[in-house]
Amino acid sequence: MDERSGAPQRRPWQGSLTLKPAGRFAAAPIAEALQDHEQYLIGRTASAARPKTLFPKRSDPEWETGEVVVKRVSWIVWIAAGLFCIEVGLNALRYLLPGFTGPEFIMHNPMAYPWLFVHAGCGAVALLIGPLQFLPLLRARGPRLHRWLGRGYMVACLASGAAGVILAPGSTAGPVAVAGFGSAAVISLFCAVQAWRMAMARRFDEHREWVIRSFALIFAAVTLRIWLPASQFAHLDFMESYRAISFLGWVPNLIVAEFYIDRAATRRGRRVVREPISA
Ligand code: HEM
Repeated sequence: MDERSGAPQRRPWQGSLTLKPAGRFAAAPIAEALQDHEQYLIGRTASAARPKTLFPKRSDPEWETGEVVVKRVSWIVWIAAGLFCIEVGLNALRYLLPGFTGPEFIMHNPMAYPWLFVHAGCGAVALLIGPLQFLPLLRARGPRLHRWLGRGYMVACLASGAAGVILAPGSTAGPVAVAGFGSAAVISLFCAVQAWRMAMARRFDEHREWVIRSFALIFAAVTLRIWLPASQFAHLDFMESYRAISFLGWVPNLIVAEFYIDRAATRRGRRVVREPISA
């Protein structure tokens, strides 16, 4: 229950309840929604209560609120995540080269031809575009580019996720890996579809939240490639680790994304913050 309005509180996945799908996917509403989105991006970036510089003077109020530290940490995380995405994304693009075959262990998946190639190629595109969409500068100065990249990201996510759904049941690592990869693929498709529907309904704050969840799942391609060598470094059994990582690759990412979404929403006043009861 929302404490201020008394209205029942909606869960994130219930956002679509008020949507009217009929007619929403025609060309004119899409163009209108895109225009509204551009205005939203400009307004949001202009009104964001964030420090204008990474290096304000010690006397500036940003130091007292801790916003400077948050901004600096965000930049470090963004740069590190971006570098990982470039490395894993470019590596996966090899799947689009003629004559390239994947690792033998994965190629035993009966669905590998052609779905692994669709999955890795489109996943790489999503991974390479994703970090750019978080850049406030790009959103403010190039909202059109942001939108075009957003559409590319969305198509890549849908294609990679759909191919992931086809690939998962064929994983040679057994039922645990099928469940881990399969649920990630279905949830990633769900997040991408929700992000698209929220944009069409001009609910851009919620659209943004679903895109963050979607990227947390796409980022599994990176975390999986950190967990796997780490497990080998710890001399753990490869197959057992692979099975565990089919979940570990994405569940913690989604938890971090939920914390990030909640914090951002609280800062913008979209969540009710419980205030201590004074005596
Ligand atoms: C939610 C996100 C994802 C899911 C659910 C998923 C699912 C899968 C599945 C089921 C396989 C086959 C595993 C097997 O047969 O044992 C696979 C392999 C693969 N995926 Fe993904 N994937 C995701 C994201 C990505 C992304 C974003 C990329 C892009 C870099 C990617 C690149 C690959 C590659 C290259 C392989 C082949 C294995 C390898 O070369 O390491 N995946 N994925």
